[in-house]
Amino acid sequence: MATFTPPPLPSDDKRWKIVNGTMRKNGFSRHALIETLHTVQSSFGYVDNDALRFVARSLRVPLSQAYGVVTFYHYFSLKPAGKHTMTICLGTACYIKGAAKLIEAAEKRLGIVPGQTTPDGQVSLTVARCVGACSRAPVVLADGELHGLMTREQAVEELERWAAE
Ligand code: FES
Repeated sequence: MATFTPPPLPSDDKRWKIVNGTMRKNGFSRHALIETLHTVQSSFGYVDNDALRFVARSLRVPLSQAYGVVTFYHYFSLKPAGKHTMTICLGTACYIKGAAKLIEAAEKRLGIVPGQTTPDGQVSLTVARCVGACSRAPVVLADGELHGLMTREQAVEELERWAAE
């Protein structure tokens, strides 16, 4: 019987290592599908098509099944609709270092709460649970790019930059 080689990580974004860790821990068993998608959701703040494809291939389940899981459970959100996405880490380390204040500042600037997109479609705001960079808490992902030691001013500055585009 041919041995299975899991597909390469979609990028060098370290969050994929967290996702892969969940699958490896479960021996890449298809039973790990929901748990793995949970890890994607909590690491990225949403589950997009690339993630669905990667997880489905790694666990050898049909893509439709993975898609079915994220659309069935309210816990999951598909990739946000905004042109830009700000994801604020709400894991313990980031929370202790003031992530709630970052969320508050972003909510105030955008007039939306996490999980929503501004009416002009410019920005979606999401939260994640530990993106694996605790030493740089609080951490914000701006369009997937990791920014550590984030201040409220810097977060709002980023949002201003997007608004001015
Ligand atoms: S808690 Fe935010 S990166 Fe770990």
